[in-house]
Amino acid sequence: MSGVDSRLLNIADLRARARRRLPKGFFEFIERGAEDDRAILNNRTAFEAFMLRPKVLRNVSGRSLACNILGRPSAMPLVMAPTGAAGLMWHDGEIALAKAAAAAGVPFTLSTVSLTSIERIAASAPGRLWFQLYMWPDRTMSHDLVKRVQAAGFEALMVTLDTAVAPNRECNVRNGFMLPFRLNRRNALDIALHAPWLVSVILRYMLTTGMPRFENFPEVLQRSMTAAPKGRSALPKNDALTWDDLRTLRQIWKGPLIVKGILNPDDAHEAVSCGADAVVVSNHGGRNLDASMPPLFALPDIVERIGHRAEVFMDGGVMRGSDVIKALALGARAVLVGRAPLWGVAVAGQAGATRAFEILAEESLRVLGQLGCSRIEELGSDFLWTGPGAAGTGGAHCIASVQRHGGTAGATASHNTASP
Ligand SMILES: Cc1cc2nc3c(=O)[nH]c(=O)nc-3n(C[C@H](O)[C@H](O)[C@H](O)COP(=O)(O)O)c2cc1C
Repeated sequence: MSGVDSRLLNIADLRARARRRLPKGFFEFIERGAEDDRAILNNRTAFEAFMLRPKVLRNVSGRSLACNILGRPSAMPLVMAPTGAAGLMWHDGEIALAKAAAAAGVPFTLSTVSLTSIERIAASAPGRLWFQLYMWPDRTMSHDLVKRVQAAGFEALMVTLDTAVAPNRECNVRNGFMLPFRLNRRNALDIALHAPWLVSVILRYMLTTGMPRFENFPEVLQRSMTAAPKGRSALPKNDALTWDDLRTLRQIWKGPLIVKGILNPDDAHEAVSCGADAVVVSNHGGRNLDASMPPLFALPDIVERIGHRAEVFMDGGVMRGSDVIKALALGARAVLVGRAPLWGVAVAGQAGATRAFEILAEESLRVLGQLGCSRIEELGSDFLWTGPGAAGTGGAHCIASVQRHGGTAGATASHNTASP
């Protein structure tokens, strides 16, 4: 056990506890998405479109979640998703998350928009480290960052492509949770009412390293969370990116290249043609395009299209082990989780994040056994059912697609060697 309160039985418990601990603006920064939060709801509802049909008498006494991700062994088919500003949820929250992921035996992805430097993470966290890249309009800034990531010994580069245009997160505007962060009457009161968080996170920063900064931004864009912009936008959004940029990145980055934020099979195909080793089917956890389709529904068509050449991951709305198992049965090699470990870290730092991974592992292993499987490779569409009572109609389309490619869980290619 992780050593946190034994009453925290599931991810929803972690969420409820995080809600109490964090000021509202900070909690909603994690929790909410763009515009009307429809994409978040739809991401969750997509899982309800599938029910599970178990098999029995199959000796599941030796069951295990062990798997291969990008050609290396992983304790379970889970990856810590990149989450910007996680260092605001707990003092050195990014280090806590990276250590928790290492202890759970799964890769950790550091966001471009993190408050901890690439080099500090590399020095503090023992496990598999991936770096998530947003590209700046000035390409040399991004390429210099990639060289830093390479020099620090990170294993994989994950480039996020679904944020070409700044998302419309009205809730953050209302809460004053914009960059630079601005204190107003409402959020000042909110922060004051959460003294334990204020003291243990913000005051601790102030007394040690000073106001948190985006440590991985190029020097010219470095600024603290509260400093005024320096005349040019520090937000690493870029609406002029093309596939050529991905090809260039492929030439610069020598390790495994992962492309995040794909929902269209043609895009997945193009990404692999550019040399991507893996694709994350994702709508950014419902934080960008509120009208986007749920990644779970996009998954089977993408597996069908590129699963023989690259690994396919998915994320968005994974809150239970049964969600993990459903995604695997639809062909995912692994799932990324964002909010679940973030709530954990907000509650109790490394121990809280460890608890989140523990919960997802225990639940996944239990459901695997309940389905009559010993290994995740045995999962496939024969364990899924989408009859009356299952929400929506997207599920039936998905199962037909999985059956077309004859897929079983993680049926995607073993590590597709990175082209230079
Ligand atoms: C607070 C927060 C910050 C995020 N920051 C980033 C980021 O910097 N880069 C990125 O590619 N995705 C980011 N994401 C999206 C996650 O990587 C992931 O796609 C999403 O959280 C998955 O959905 P889930 O939270 O329901 O598990 C962020 C998500 C959250 C909740």
